[in-house]
Amino acid sequence: MNKTPVENQLFALALQARKNAYVPYSRFAVGAAVESGSGRLYAGCNVENVSYPVGTCAEAGAIAAMIAAGDKLIRRILITADSPELITPCGACLQRIKEFSSEHTEILLADTENIRRTLTVKDLLPFAFNNEDLKND
Ligand code: THU
Repeated sequence: MNKTPVENQLFALALQARKNAYVPYSRFAVGAAVESGSGRLYAGCNVENVSYPVGTCAEAGAIAAMIAAGDKLIRRILITADSPELITPCGACLQRIKEFSSEHTEILLADTENIRRTLTVKDLLPFAFNNEDLKND
């Protein structure tokens, strides 16, 4: 698939972050990169822990970097891992992405060579818990 310039940049950033993934337990390195509403780019990798549930996903790292820098909207998020199967964000990360997404947000799923699929948040989390669900009047 041909990549746009921003897709190329996201892919390169995610691959670079993936190299730094701390994965002594699963040995499954993941990289993620976000393009924010302002056009700035942020990357993250998974960071595991000997106390397994404490580990964090690549998406969580990239989103945290975006929030720390003052951006609030995910325009695109690309996730890359080395797997013959398509890697999709876990349920918790879909909810994290949802928090900062719009209906136009794209989730780009990649192996280490190619972007293989582009989906929306609604594709992957069709009945999401959202702000409206908090209203009780
Ligand atoms: N992981 C991610 O970082 N992102 C995903 O989208 C799927 C899973 C991580 C969590 C854990 O460190 C390793 O991959 C194996 O599950």
